[in-house]
Amino acid sequence: MKRVSTADFRAKKLAGQKISMLTAYDFVTASLVEEAGLDAILVGDSLGNVILGYDSTIPVTLDDMVHHCRAVARACRRAMIIGDMPFLSYHTGHADTLRNAGRLLQEGGAHAVKLEGGQERAETVRLLVEAGIPVMGHLGLTPQSIYQLGSYQVQGKSPATAEKLRNDAQALEQAGAFALVLECVPGSLAATISRELQIPTIGIGAGAHCDGQVLVSQDLLGLSPRVPRFVKQYASLRQQMLTAFRTYKEEVEDGRFPGSEHSY
Ligand code: KIV
Repeated sequence: MKRVSTADFRAKKLAGQKISMLTAYDFVTASLVEEAGLDAILVGDSLGNVILGYDSTIPVTLDDMVHHCRAVARACRRAMIIGDMPFLSYHTGHADTLRNAGRLLQEGGAHAVKLEGGQERAETVRLLVEAGIPVMGHLGLTPQSIYQLGSYQVQGKSPATAEKLRNDAQALEQAGAFALVLECVPGSLAATISRELQIPTIGIGAGAHCDGQVLVSQDLLGLSPRVPRFVKQYASLRQQMLTAFRTYKEEVEDGRFPGSEHSY
């Protein structure tokens, strides 16, 4: 089975076909995303929020990312796996950045890395691409800067910040990024950036005119207690799991489980 490549991303954009991507952090979820035939799996540092119970992505370590990338990689033969570079793993010099990104590929089994930031990260993107590591950029709401941003809100609403995002997108493309996540930006701005770039944009809360879409799987499945407005919930697994756990508890307590059919 042929692995989805960065060339396939580009070809899809050229052909006007949308790119589908979801996050996954574990073997079971990744197996199902793979079986469903999505193009790519993002092992996002959002695992800090949805798996590890932190209130931001800041505490996520490179070891966390490697650990979860490995679980996902064991499940996938076709989908491209993109591993997120966690907070401060690409800010402390070229050698550290190369070593850290290299670990996501060598130990984690990822095929590309994602990192946050625009023009200020162009040199980092170039460094990684020259080392043969495909890089996905990430602009707009960049959760690793949450203490600077102040809150998780839509970015690029004023003419000046919109202009900056367009310039950042150009800088990442010129530095060699193969794709770009646009998170929480007005749909019209995302459409403009998508038109202006040769590389595909992958939107999350960025409207319908990006070249692809990504969501956090737990949000789409209805497992997260609260979801942003841009999420469409395709299932209500939180309620189903709660009902299953409660029913199991009751049946254990009143002796209905295990029945004779579950006994040897
Ligand atoms: O970490 C993550 O899951 C992400 C997506 C929200 C794009 O960066």
